Amino acid sequence: MQRDVTPPFKGRSLLTWLDYTPEEITALLDLSLEVKAESRAGRVHQRFLGKTLALIFEKRSTRTRCSFETAFGEEGGHPVFLSTADIQLGGKESVEDTARILGRMFSAIQFRGFSQKNVEILARYAGIPVYNGLTDAFHPTQVLADMMTLRENFGGLRGLNLVFCGDGRNNVARSLMVICAKLGVNFTVISPRELFPDREIQDLASLPAQKSGAKITVTSDTALVHGADWLYTDVWVSMGEEARREERVSLLTPYQVNDSLMERTGNGSCIFMHCLPAVRGEEVTHSVIEGRASRVWDEGENRKHTIKAIMLATL
Ligand code: CP
Ligand code: NVA
Repeated sequence: MQRDVTPPFKGRSLLTWLDYTPEEITALLDLSLEVKAESRAGRVHQRFLGKTLALIFEKRSTRTRCSFETAFGEEGGHPVFLSTADIQLGGKESVEDTARILGRMFSAIQFRGFSQKNVEILARYAGIPVYNGLTDAFHPTQVLADMMTLRENFGGLRGLNLVFCGDGRNNVARSLMVICAKLGVNFTVISPRELFPDREIQDLASLPAQKSGAKITVTSDTALVHGADWLYTDVWVSMGEEARREERVSLLTPYQVNDSLMERTGNGSCIFMHCLPAVRGEEVTHSVIEGRASRVWDEGENRKHTIKAIMLATL
């Protein structure tokens, strides 16, 4: 690997992207593309030999868990999966104390769970890099893979139009807003007013957007799908919100990504993305996710390359 990504990254956690500069995020994307090329060429390294990774999961996962576990293990590292049935996190033992102990035994921690506050406490007390593998508030590793997939499709990112149609207040939409603002990607959230992204995240994104020239728009008008280079959606009911299913289906049915919405972009080259898992027939139709515009399988694969790049840079 040619690129020296060590100095600004070593020892850092990834909690939201808010504390990363556009240049740093771009360097991680460059590294992710190199990691993918190496993987395609069958070049094998042992860059995590002698290192250990704690994988804490309060919520379920296919892509995130498998990305961390395979990316770390195939480079000689030892990942340890810890569900809430295994450890005391926040129950019999405080998050702070758990963090201090894990920090003495592991090289890094991945946390997927409910509370953003808890992943921040882990990062503060563990003294080792902590990666946010999804909380109720953010899903930062996901959106790096999304940006990588865009780079593969469009070459660059600046000035592209991303339209997210669906539950605008969820972790994926919030993280897309932050990373788009940083990287100069125009970002439009189309969702019912009740599910608009909160004011705080819009305020947090506004300064980086001003700096990068990204235009951030929040609307309930599906006509604003016009001009999209890529249309993105996510489940209507995120993990932990199952009790709200009925209400969400009723609010979000007009916002389904289907062939008609794809057509209303007016852009025959518009691509479709989804973080997955998807509920076909709710947020997206079978014909769109299986259609020629869909990039969801590349996007899913890129989770692994981007996660490996994040760990290579920070460990
Ligand atoms: N996109 C994503 O995070 O998938 P998993 O829930 O399977 O990890
Ligand atoms: N918003 C979804 C993302 C799943 C990867 C959830 O939190 O369940």
